[in-house]
Amino acid sequence: MNETIEILRNHRSVREFNPEKEVSGDQIETIIEAALAGPNWINGQQVTVIEVREPERKSALAKAAGNQRWIEEAPVFLVFCMDFYRAKLAAEKNGTDFKVVEDLEAILIGSTDVGIALGSAVIAAESMGLGIVPIGGLRRNPQAFVDVLNLPEYVFPISGLVVGHPRNVPGQKPRLPLKATLQKEQYDAKIQKEIIDQYDQTISSYLSQRTNGQDSSDWSSKIAQFYDNGFEQYRKNSSPAVKNQRFQYK
Ligand SMILES: Cc1cc2nc3c(=O)[nH]c(=O)nc-3n(C[C@H](O)[C@H](O)[C@H](O)COP(=O)(O)O)c2cc1C
Repeated sequence: MNETIEILRNHRSVREFNPEKEVSGDQIETIIEAALAGPNWINGQQVTVIEVREPERKSALAKAAGNQRWIEEAPVFLVFCMDFYRAKLAAEKNGTDFKVVEDLEAILIGSTDVGIALGSAVIAAESMGLGIVPIGGLRRNPQAFVDVLNLPEYVFPISGLVVGHPRNVPGQKPRLPLKATLQKEQYDAKIQKEIIDQYDQTISSYLSQRTNGQDSSDWSSKIAQFYDNGFEQYRKNSSPAVKNQRFQYK
């Protein structure tokens, strides 16, 4: 196994950081430069990352993202934004209509570009011995991020990334078996129910071990609950804030 595959397979999200140990500006530049060297849609480079270190600003963002204390604890909070502002300037410069932002395609393009950059930043940071946790919780209150970070029209925060030195590294969370997630030639829907039954048991005993018996809930109940009312604040706030940034899909 090569070193990159080892880093990828060793991933775990870290939520306890050493607040005293710094991450330098050079380290962040290395991470983001590497992340943005990846593929992106039509070389439009629809991603901008905001590096936040100022404690009061971090604290306000931590609150807006659902009181996630690890955002305050770690020295750096990166906010990955999909960014069509430069594309709008390109349209103006060339005297063309800026149609993409009237279509859902803009969200698919921007989210894919951010996803690739975020994933690469995770690997770059982990390869440097740093710990990370992505923060999609920012979409509970994306308007607060738009305001605090001064995001212009056509720029929207998709996910944060907390970066710091781990104080505690948790055990690895087991994944679904590959037979569910890597299918050959065509999708076989029939196999999924049985796999979920097995995986529910795997996650339940994993969680029980990780929390000393305090939480033994399973995978399907967590997912079901989130996509029922756990999703409520995102449903209420995310789409209106996207539209407020002038993405006008129907
Ligand atoms: C886009 C994205 C957003 C996430 N948002 C949060 C978040 O707001 N808070 C959090 O604690 N973890 C967040 N996570 C981390 C996931 O919960 C975590 O990756 C998942 O449970 C698997 O655990 P692992 O990363 O330790 O393997 C996010 C992950 C992704 C990819």
